[in-house]
Amino acid sequence: MKILIIGSGGREHALTWRLWKSADVTELIAMPGNPGIEAMATCIPGMADIRGYASFAEQSGIDLTIVGPEAPLVHGIVDEFRTRGLQIIGPTKAAAQLEGSKIFAKKFFQRAGIPTARSVETTSTEDALRCLQEFPLPVVIKADGLAGGKGVIIANTMEDAESAIQKLGKNLVIEEFLEGEEVSFIGLSDGSNFFPFSPSQDHKRIFDGDAGPNTGGMGAYADTRILSAKQSGQVMDKIMLPALAQMNKEGTPFTGFLYAGLMMTAAGPRLLEFNVRLGDPEAQALLHSMEGDLATFLVSPAEVKVQFPSPSVCIVLAAQGYPDAPKTGDVISGIKEAEAAGAVVFQAGTKREDGHLVTHGGRVLGVTASGEDLRTAVDRAYAAAAKISFNGMQFRTDIGAKGLRR
Ligand code: AMP
Ligand code: GLY
Repeated sequence: MKILIIGSGGREHALTWRLWKSADVTELIAMPGNPGIEAMATCIPGMADIRGYASFAEQSGIDLTIVGPEAPLVHGIVDEFRTRGLQIIGPTKAAAQLEGSKIFAKKFFQRAGIPTARSVETTSTEDALRCLQEFPLPVVIKADGLAGGKGVIIANTMEDAESAIQKLGKNLVIEEFLEGEEVSFIGLSDGSNFFPFSPSQDHKRIFDGDAGPNTGGMGAYADTRILSAKQSGQVMDKIMLPALAQMNKEGTPFTGFLYAGLMMTAAGPRLLEFNVRLGDPEAQALLHSMEGDLATFLVSPAEVKVQFPSPSVCIVLAAQGYPDAPKTGDVISGIKEAEAAGAVVFQAGTKREDGHLVTHGGRVLGVTASGEDLRTAVDRAYAAAAKISFNGMQFRTDIGAKGLRR
């Protein structure tokens, strides 16, 4: 099988690394890929548009394409591939609306009867300011469209809420603040069935103890014990399966990776959002510990049982200045030593320059390890991360700590 992977981050490196172990995979091509991916795949610059990708796949005899980030999905890459009879993993443009528009998503959760935070959708600043009065503080304000993780503001005061409304544009979702533990529930849908991976948890804030500004994710761990069997059953029965059934009913079946961002409240799981792709850095942790042939699973998920017997941890090493203004061009050392210490180092914001590997983005590396228990996985990942250095390197020291307390 000849596989094309679209994207350039740690998630795509992890996909490539896992696919490389699949028996049926003969060739991997990444667009644009990154220096870490180069060891396993041919990296080719990305195309200008989705037609370019489809033509490339057609001309190069690609058997299967996997899309990492949401933007090409929201722009309809799956529709373009399917029109040409090309096999691709992901949702159609219509189905990708679940992530592309928060207003669409909230209305959809209501139609499907999915438990979620109480909310209103507004289309003007005046409307939003008026609706704000209906919610106690803190209140959550979300911009409608894709915002790369920067479209959600949790306001603790009325002044903060008003300035969030001014900042986030006209089309907004205003919703009640939910308390609980956040869980990423990610799996693959074939249109009617959902094949869940292990639950996982991201760490969105830059500093230990969930302090400081939001980032793309500073680390993640996957551990089946994050949810009890009963809780996982509730998530499947109240959220994942009703969503797939409603998508079918509306004539827009959902295929591809589906990622539910959950809040586990005292009253049960509540859906904060759907993403129509794998999470980053959750994918690095999940794919590291996954057992089962990924390529076969993607094509025929009902035929392969993928399992996650070992907890796994991904620690993100971020550049100086991240998340505001990440500094680039700092020489990275110690990756070989980290891998010798029992981790896999997935690359994200890296670049080769004058024979050196240098920083080239906010989240630079994802040091990932598994273990027979979470403690072992965490210790292994941190021991490996300690071998790596670059100027201004930042990382959290408490990835997986919530799991260790469980
Ligand atoms: P979202 O993009 O909708 O997942 O929101 C980004 C982050 O904001 C989430 O990961 C949560 O940490 C937080 N968040 C979003 N909605 C809520 C809510 N209703 N209550 C509490 N926190 C929320
Ligand atoms: N881990 C958060 C995300 O991928 O959106």
